[in-house]
Amino acid sequence: MRNNIVHFWVAEQTYEIREIVEVWNKIKSFWVTIIWENIWDPVSKWEKVPTWLREIVKNNIDEDDSFAYSPSKWVLETREYLAKKNWKITSDDIIFFNWLWEAINKVYWYLAISARVLWPNPAYPTHSSAEATNSGSFHITYNLNPDNDWNPDLEEIENKVRYNPNISAILVINPDNPTWAVFKKKTLKWIIDIAKKYDLFVIFDEIYEKLTFEEEDRVLLKDIIWDVPGIAMKWLSKEVPWPGSRCWWIEVYNQDKDEQFRKYIKSVFFSKMLEVCSTTLPQKVLPDIYESIDFKKSLKDRIKKYKERAQIVEDIFWDLDLIKFVKPKGAFYCAIIFNLDKFPKNPTLKIENDNLKWYIEWICVDLRFDKKFCYYMMAAYWICTVPLSWFNSSYHWFRMTLLEEDLEKFKHIVKTIKKAIIEYSKN
Ligand SMILES: Cc1ncc(COP(=O)(O)O)c(C=O)c1O
Repeated sequence: MRNNIVHFWVAEQTYEIREIVEVWNKIKSFWVTIIWENIWDPVSKWEKVPTWLREIVKNNIDEDDSFAYSPSKWVLETREYLAKKNWKITSDDIIFFNWLWEAINKVYWYLAISARVLWPNPAYPTHSSAEATNSGSFHITYNLNPDNDWNPDLEEIENKVRYNPNISAILVINPDNPTWAVFKKKTLKWIIDIAKKYDLFVIFDEIYEKLTFEEEDRVLLKDIIWDVPGIAMKWLSKEVPWPGSRCWWIEVYNQDKDEQFRKYIKSVFFSKMLEVCSTTLPQKVLPDIYESIDFKKSLKDRIKKYKERAQIVEDIFWDLDLIKFVKPKGAFYCAIIFNLDKFPKNPTLKIENDNLKWYIEWICVDLRFDKKFCYYMMAAYWICTVPLSWFNSSYHWFRMTLLEEDLEKFKHIVKTIKKAIIEYSKN
């Protein structure tokens, strides 16, 4: 090529949740059955799609307009339905996207190149990749502290904002991925105060909001935003077992309070018009889903189940000083952090099959500590988890789900992981 055509960020791009599956695909010829703990896909993992959800979709299939284009912003009835539930916005403040990457790309790519967003560290990588790609530079982050229930140090946030004049927005993911923290109201209000003081806007990814374990912990952007410009990101796929619906929307606050912000949102909307509209069916069924008694009941049942499983993990790990475990406060995963100083320099796990052992040793050369653990555990104990250092994080840790339906099987999985961690500390 005459010029360098590869974006600087490409070398950094990775998506371990799927990458580990690629590794598994290469080694599946070894005939072992894997326990998948890497991703939330209830349909393949544990759940029949419920009849009430099927019925709602079927009813809408009988209507011709389910097959038509929808307005660029969204099906109007659905936008009006959502706006009625939230007095801070009107239906014009809602824009609908097909999926996460589309929403995130449009939100970050339509920012001026010099306008930076301040990130949590660790951070969900889809956000960080898009922002860094747009700005052509590495991200600027604030730390989440596991010793304070993952709440951030607000002084650090304020200092970062004060000394980086390019910072134009602060991102909060609440409940958070990958820490599964639910942030205190005080913390969130402080972030809004900082945004107000330094004339920034805020982005709140609230896709797990309905899966906050304790009702009183649930604080949404709309509850605290005041007159600060902001964007809340919402998503259906975690609340119902329909991850393939690929249906996102943003709610925009206080467009009228800042001319720059209004112009920016207009450009995001314009980009949506360029592709006409998003998929119609998931938008149409949303009010029926939210109004369904079965939906409300299923949320309650699921939260109960995830809380119970989070407690089981804590009970099984409580005496293990090789790791740190912060009990999740929402969603359906948990994260386990290695205490690195308690492990040898180059640990491994025993793999019975010689060919598999050879393959894992080969791919693990120079791998990060947590990634290597996940690959070894997959080959030695047949449990597939996700390493988390790639979430822009300095910790070495991994994630498992709280999904397993069969309680005894779930306990067995956690105990096996504990056994693997202990073995990793000895070899
Ligand atoms: C904070 C956050 N935002 C967005 C997404 C994307 O959701 P989906 O995987 O359904 O596209 C995820 C997925 O894990 C997430 O954790």
